[in-house]
Amino acid sequence: MNWSGFYKLDWPERIEKLRVAGLLDDQQVAYMQAHYDAIGDQQVENYLYNFGVPTGILTDILIDGHHYTVPMTTEEPSVIAAANNGARMMNTGTGVQTNFPERLVRGQIVVTDLENPTVFIDDVKEQTQAILKLANDAYPSMLARGAGAKKLEFESLDATTVAVDLLVDPSEAMGANVVNTMAEAVAKSFSQRGYHVLMGILSNYATEAVISAKVAIPVDQLKTKQGQAGLSVAKAIAQASQIENLSPYRAVTANKGIMNGVEAVVLASGNDTRAINASMHAYASAHGQYRGLANWQLDSENTQLIGQISFPIMVGVVGGSIGIVPAVKINQALMDNPTAKQLSAIVAGVALAQNLAALRALVSTGIQAGHMSLQAKSLALQVGAELDEVPKLVDALQTADQMNQQTAKALLDQIRNEKDK
Ligand code: MEV
Repeated sequence: MNWSGFYKLDWPERIEKLRVAGLLDDQQVAYMQAHYDAIGDQQVENYLYNFGVPTGILTDILIDGHHYTVPMTTEEPSVIAAANNGARMMNTGTGVQTNFPERLVRGQIVVTDLENPTVFIDDVKEQTQAILKLANDAYPSMLARGAGAKKLEFESLDATTVAVDLLVDPSEAMGANVVNTMAEAVAKSFSQRGYHVLMGILSNYATEAVISAKVAIPVDQLKTKQGQAGLSVAKAIAQASQIENLSPYRAVTANKGIMNGVEAVVLASGNDTRAINASMHAYASAHGQYRGLANWQLDSENTQLIGQISFPIMVGVVGGSIGIVPAVKINQALMDNPTAKQLSAIVAGVALAQNLAALRALVSTGIQAGHMSLQAKSLALQVGAELDEVPKLVDALQTADQMNQQTAKALLDQIRNEKDK
């Protein structure tokens, strides 16, 4: 197939070319037509159709005295159920309290081939105010909001290389565009002064935007339907959280569970999930060993389970694709149009809820019980059940000895045979 010029074709031509090449049949073309989105066609190159990811809601989570409804976009069946479950336990008492002391995004201007890096650093330090002004002049709308470039930091990278780091308050934006524009302006001025600049680019490692969230849950809230006492569950959760300091294998899985919630909210809010992911995992290994991001401990009277989490987060409520995608506007409205700081607090609260629900399930019933009842639905669809056959098949799967594709197929055949009789 000759792909040359494919990106110049308009949408019907692109689809037709794929169909003629035998890569799409008529049914698939019809699916793409039904899932065509004119905005998507403007957003990415070689656009075909919108890949739908289900969006549901966490109905109520109490964060900093606010009851939030939180849209979550995810394909994993148990994630939203777990978030609701975790939030229900956390909403008792004062709910989640967050602390977000600063919110600055970093840009790096990497200068190489320096004969004397110390002299360079001293020189740049002396001109800090002029450099900040130059950065702010490159993106004047930030200054008008009291935001913009705030300070410089320096990383001595090797004997001849220095990164000049520009720290910027991006107001309500995530900051990538702002800081990249500013970093490139500063890079240009260094080049004009004869320095060799390798690049100017934001860093997604948001160490100047670390949020902390805390919650205290009366242990009684943790008791299980199967009769395990709340205190016993709380103790086991605290123990499980310690294992994450000892085993990176466990820590990665616990953080993956946290990311189930974090990514779902970040995606629903129109923000960049990859940036958050990269930053979180760097932060989780900041002390030399990869550890769990959250921590759970019993209070001294053994009456409350205290959960804490800290992580870097740069999410915005304006800019990028946020203003373009109608679904994002809907999701912002569902959250009562939060500020960037409130959205960050929501993400932190959901992270705690997600981790709590996972740990509680792991140390009591095990994860499969809850997971599989939800996954029965996907299994039913996977084996080709029609929508009207799904509820019956789900019921049958839940009482079956095994929940796998083979069983699902056999049960579906059985349901169909009975229907035919
Ligand atoms: C599954 O998506 C997430 C969990 O594995 C998280 C965990 O183990 O903490 C349940």
